[in-house]
Amino acid sequence: MGNGKYDFGMVGLGVMGSNLLLNMADHGYAVVGFDLDEAKAKKFESSGKEGQQLKGVTTAKDLVDNLKSPRKIMLLVPAGKAVDSVINGLEPLLDKGDIIIDGGNSHYTDTLGRINRLKNSGIHFMGVGISGGEEGARRGPSIMPGGDKEAYKVVEPILQDVSAKVNGEPCVAYLGNNAAGHYVKMVHNGIEYSIMQLVSECYDLMKNGLGMSNDELAETFGRWNSGEMNSFLLEITAEIFKKKDPDTGGYLVDVISGRAGAKGTGKWTSQSGLDLPMPVPNIDVAVMMRNLSGLLSERKEASDIYNIKEQQLGSAAEKEEIVKAIHDTLYFATLLSYVQGLAMITTASGELKMDIPLEDVVKVWRGGCIIRSASLDHYARIYHENPGLKNMMLNKEIAGRLEDTLPAVKKVITLAAQNNFQIPGIMAAFNYFNAYRRNWLPTNLVQAQRDYFGAHTYERIDKEGVFHTQW
Ligand code: 6PG
Repeated sequence: MGNGKYDFGMVGLGVMGSNLLLNMADHGYAVVGFDLDEAKAKKFESSGKEGQQLKGVTTAKDLVDNLKSPRKIMLLVPAGKAVDSVINGLEPLLDKGDIIIDGGNSHYTDTLGRINRLKNSGIHFMGVGISGGEEGARRGPSIMPGGDKEAYKVVEPILQDVSAKVNGEPCVAYLGNNAAGHYVKMVHNGIEYSIMQLVSECYDLMKNGLGMSNDELAETFGRWNSGEMNSFLLEITAEIFKKKDPDTGGYLVDVISGRAGAKGTGKWTSQSGLDLPMPVPNIDVAVMMRNLSGLLSERKEASDIYNIKEQQLGSAAEKEEIVKAIHDTLYFATLLSYVQGLAMITTASGELKMDIPLEDVVKVWRGGCIIRSASLDHYARIYHENPGLKNMMLNKEIAGRLEDTLPAVKKVITLAAQNNFQIPGIMAAFNYFNAYRRNWLPTNLVQAQRDYFGAHTYERIDKEGVFHTQW
């Protein structure tokens, strides 16, 4: 039995782990952090305020011995093997009823494996997605728990206390069975990839197609952020365009290499979308563009071969109108990024028996996380009114907003194509929209071809059954 005096333990005292514990300490919890790195453990122990109970330890045994029963231990270590090795180290030291929470960006299939492995041990295991970066962990993240509901009830008050709040409501809720927490976090990240790709396309069009300066871009994204597109990603984008580089005295953004990194969660979302199968083209394209950005030396070679240059999208007199069209296009494509991600969660919820409450997912995303935006209040209302909604494009209000912005999207696509810009995210949203809204697709021809060369059979629109033709 744990007879220590600490309420909550953390494995991994990186910035996320220690910030989340400091956040708990601010809410009156006695917390203990474990890191093999003694310097990190010491630094953590000395970082509390007067009256707070903080302890840093360097062994799993010290962590376990210092905790009250049932022990509540969160892991914030790199996804993959590190998670298993920490669990293996803790397991023999824990008692039945203790709770292990994996708070990292673990792949949901790894989480499923761990749930299965620990199921007969009496130790509770939960996969919990946490979003908001360093600042979120310290001041209030969005928390996406899933799995063991009994364990969730035990840790719920702590998670509610430390989470972000929107209109007084905590941005945490039980999001479903099995690996639901990590699944929802994975799709959150996929949507994050998609919106970042879209914002970067708008940046390209305004910088290189309208000649806008960084000051103008800061002002424009700032203005968009104070309207209906209010969101964390637009807020930081406006800030980024203001930042100067101490080395050159110029703008920092201009000296940052365009070779984009990725830790894998966007790719996992696309892979899961293909497996389900559920189309998430905006996420696919965002992953693809990060990959393409990495082909830097080939792109340099290609830019010498092709004598094609990006041209101005319009005259100075047309600039304001084009910026407005880009705004509406970003609105349209961002909305469709949420549409695709949420539809994917809806299908996965059934396929993987997670029973995910969509309204709660959307509510939890309203504060603290990277994709928080004002629009999520609206989406929460839509899922509240129709919890079984398969796809937000089937909602009349959403349909109205998409149709209202469509002329602007067509204008931007036309201008971009005429003037040699690539806009894969915007195009993906436009094509998804046009394909999903049609009750006829040319895939009848695909079926005919499959039957022609491979006798794969086809269905008919005028009678039941499966058919094959000797073509
Ligand atoms: C969050 C972020 C976080 C992390 C991403 C970055 O929700 O707080 O999504 O999880 O910053 O994993 O992902 P990439 O390195 O793949 O862009």
